[in-house]
Amino acid sequence: MTSVEHPGGFGSFDNVGTSGHSGNQEVGAAPTITVVDSYEAMSQRAADIVAETVSRHPTCAITVPTGSTPLGFFQELIRRIDAGTLDLSRTQIFCLDEYLGTSPEDVASLTGWLQREFLVPARIPEEHIHYVPATADDPDAAAARYEAEIRAAGGIELAVLGLGPNGHVAFNEPGSAPDSRTRVLDLTEESREQNAAYYENRAEIPTQAMTMGLGTILGARRLVLIVSGAAKAEIVRQALEGPMPLDVPGSWLRLAGERLEVVLDTEAASALSGR
Ligand code: GLP
Repeated sequence: MTSVEHPGGFGSFDNVGTSGHSGNQEVGAAPTITVVDSYEAMSQRAADIVAETVSRHPTCAITVPTGSTPLGFFQELIRRIDAGTLDLSRTQIFCLDEYLGTSPEDVASLTGWLQREFLVPARIPEEHIHYVPATADDPDAAAARYEAEIRAAGGIELAVLGLGPNGHVAFNEPGSAPDSRTRVLDLTEESREQNAAYYENRAEIPTQAMTMGLGTILGARRLVLIVSGAAKAEIVRQALEGPMPLDVPGSWLRLAGERLEVVLDTEAASALSGR
């Protein structure tokens, strides 16, 4: 198992609006850990960061995650758009991952799910949405073009991310290299299992996905990782404390240092030392 030492400890536990670094940490090198008391507060903090970023850079590129964790975050963004206090109409949205060979019309598609839960209700113009090219005839060439698309958009200004139950980020499964780029990779059995409900026959569950790479994600100028619930407490601890093993891809996000804010509800933070 390959690992490196924690680059600089992690930030102090603070509530929304007062996050910062503890005095005895390397200020400027450590991620900020923001612990809030509810799922709603986590969702709002992430929406605040999007709003802040977009108000400074209205045409910037952001990533949004899939999974159940961001549902409250999406609802909050949509609420603000409907209220006229947030404008994402000029923002470029980059998707993070998709099952290989799966199109948005497929019942298990992550892209289709994102369209229903966020992109359509948020009225993001279609020409500003960048889909992971998971149905391309030549997936490797298409993945390289996706990287070029990100560069052409000026790079990712803000990456909003979730954490999988096995520590994956987007679909960077355990073993993913911290400098990996957008690519096709094999899914773990655990991740296939997460998807099992959509398929009558186990053999039909996709075995591969295309994902934005960890290195691509780490290139973002600002990163926000949102995690909620007691079921993720142990993987959150492994991602944020101790060594950075290759089998916990989330732990490599620490390389972003002060560009990363981890927003946890109290349950997700409950296994961290000092909690
Ligand atoms: C999926 C996605 C990830 C997501 C993760 C967490 O596997 N590929 O991008 O972060 O699940 O999902 P949930 O929020 O439902 O736990």
